[in-house]
This record gives sequence, structure tokens and C-alpha cells, in this order.
Amino acid sequence: QGCKLVGCGSAVPSVQISNDDLSQIVDTNDEWISVRTGIRNRRILTGKDSLTGLAVEAAKKALQMAEVDPDDVDLVLLCTSTPEDLFGSAPQIQKALGCKNNPLAYDITAACSGFVLGLVSAACHIRGGGFKNVLVIGADALSRYVDWTDRGSCILFGDAAGAVLVQACDIEEDGLFAFDLHSDGEGLRHLNASMKENETDHELGMNGSLLGILPKGSSYSCIQMNGKEVFRFAVRVVPQSIELALEKADLPRSSIDWLLLHQANQRIIDAVATRLEVPSERVISNLANYGNTSAASIPLALDEAVRSGKVQAGHTIATAGFGAGLTWGSAILRW
Ligand code: ACO
Repeated sequence: QGCKLVGCGSAVPSVQISNDDLSQIVDTNDEWISVRTGIRNRRILTGKDSLTGLAVEAAKKALQMAEVDPDDVDLVLLCTSTPEDLFGSAPQIQKALGCKNNPLAYDITAACSGFVLGLVSAACHIRGGGFKNVLVIGADALSRYVDWTDRGSCILFGDAAGAVLVQACDIEEDGLFAFDLHSDGEGLRHLNASMKENETDHELGMNGSLLGILPKGSSYSCIQMNGKEVFRFAVRVVPQSIELALEKADLPRSSIDWLLLHQANQRIIDAVATRLEVPSERVISNLANYGNTSAASIPLALDEAVRSGKVQAGHTIATAGFGAGLTWGSAILRW
């Protein structure tokens, strides 16, 4: 059984924040941010927008391009680390799309690697489980977990959603050639947004009350990041991972029409492209406009590249996600 990408879509919040805007709240400036990261603007979810709403908008566009009816979707995978419900938001998307046959819908949490994991999961469900039309959505609102007083991290992130429809096809038309996935929990200290310690009394209260030791509700801390370590990690593991995926696909580097990396930092993208000897004109980048949108960055950039006519039918794409966990992974695809 083969599987291929047949549609894509994306959505971003309407509120845009420039580097100059950020320089009003932290000690930074446009030149520092653009030279060190390549980022100039980002979109931020505000009170009136919901992440689930963005994800639904992106999914609808992908279905439209694929000419697939919501009733024919049999699986919705929402790749996100910032769901609007702790128990997962994918079923809300399934409901909003009006998929009548109650298709399975669940969340995948793997930060900026989430979308690549979602693609591979879709392929496994199609190849081994008889699924026909799988919506893979990458959506994140990291702005909700950013420490807006930390100039080292608050300049990086933006909010967005992107989606693709992965469809079953004959093996001759297969569009997911190979993948390579990894994680290393040892690196958590370099990038995390951990649960805050429960505010319990840790011992029975003065009056011996059970209520004294029960958790009083939980929340997560803001993103804690060692930028230098994350940078080094990405530049080290991503080229290796893409090489491994190419090897499994039995394809040379020269077969890459487009290098489409998670959009974290232009210097990371350039360094990986240099190591893989991919010329800059074959590298997709849109982070100047959106910053790092976590699980949304790859499908957002793909959608723009497809709709602008850059990526065309039959093109081979090497894609890779990397980030918190630490997690990383790559896939070799044909559009
Ligand atoms: N404006 C001005 N100065 C700044 C800013 C800022 N926004 N941020 C930091 N600085 C200062 C620092 O305080 C430091 O000053 P000092 O030399 O006086 O101490 C100096 O600039 C250099 O800081 P570094 O942190 O060493 O700067 P670096 O070149 O490493 O760039 C950056 C920092 C942009 C964060 C970079 O390390 C990076 O992009 N790393 C990757 C991060 C990333 O991609 N994270 C997301 C992963 S995906 C996910 O899963 C969420």
C-alpha cells in the first residue's frame, strides 16, 4: 500500500508583531533579531482567536485542494504541544469539520518534530491499518508559554497552523520514500516548559486533612531554553538524520528538489543546507514572516511554497523537524 500527499492548507492569526514592536517590551532591536535569527515578524493568537479554529481553517483548505469531502476523512492527527484541552483537541477539529462517520482523532505531542511524526504516523495507519484519508495538522501557539521578559527566547516564536491530507494510493505512486526518527530525553534541560510543582503541603495538614496534601491544580512554566545548546544540537543531528533517510530511500543528495526544515532560525537552515550541499535556491524559508511556529512551521512553509508554484507535482522534498524533548526526525517525500 502506498500513500501520498494530495492537499495542503494553512492559517495564521491576524495580529502581527514586528521586531520593532518587541523592542518596546524587551531590550532588543530589529538588527540583532534579524541578523541572529532571520526573523522579522510573527503572528500571535490573541483573545479572539483560538488555536483549534486556526487548525480547522488549515484543514479545510487542505481538504479543498485535495477535493476530499470531510465525510471521507477517516483519521485526524493533530500535532501540537499547546492543545486547548489537556485531553487533546483533535476530536474538536473532527467535530468542527463535520466529519460524519466519527473518524478517529487524536493529538501527537512532539514539539517542533510533531509534524514529521504525524506524517510518518499517517503513513503507518494507511499502510498497516487500512486508513484511506488522513488529515495531518501541525498547530501550535507557543506564545501562550513564552516568557515575554526573556529576550533570548521571546523573539523566536509565533503561532500558526498548517495541514496536509495524506491519501492511500497504489504503491507505484508512493510519495513517502523513507524516514528517520529519534529522541534524547537527556537534552530536556536545554528546552522545556515543564509542569510547575504542585502546590501541596507535602504532608498532612495541621488538622490531618487529606485536602492539605492533594494537588491544587496544575499549570506549566514558561519556555526555558538554552539557545546555544539547541542551536548546536540542531546543526549536528539534522544533516545526519536527512542523510540516513536518503540512504534508506536509496536516493542521492542531488535528488533533493527542496530542503524544507522546521523554521527555527535562518542560521540553522543555512548551516544544514551547507552541510548537505543543497544550494540556497533550493531551500524553502518563510520564517522571516512567522518566526518559529513549532509543529506548524513545516506545513505552513509547504503550503506557501505549493500555492506560489515553487513546489510542483513530482518534486522531491527532504524535510526535518527538531526541538524540545529533545526530538528530531526527517522524511523524504514526493509532492
Ligand atoms: N536582543 C539583543 N541581545 C540579545 C537578545 C536579544 N533578543 N537575546 C540575547 N541577547 C544577548 C545575550 O544576552 C548575550 O549578551 P552578552 O554577550 O552580553 O551576554 C548576547 O546577545 C549573545 O547571546 P547568545 O544567546 O549567545 O546569542 P546566540 O547567537 O546564541 O543567539 C539564539 C541566540 C537566537 C536564541 C540562538 O541561540 C538560537 O536561535 N538557538 C536555537 C533556538 C531554537 O531554535 N529553539 C527552538 C527549538 S524548536 C522547539 O522545539 C520549541
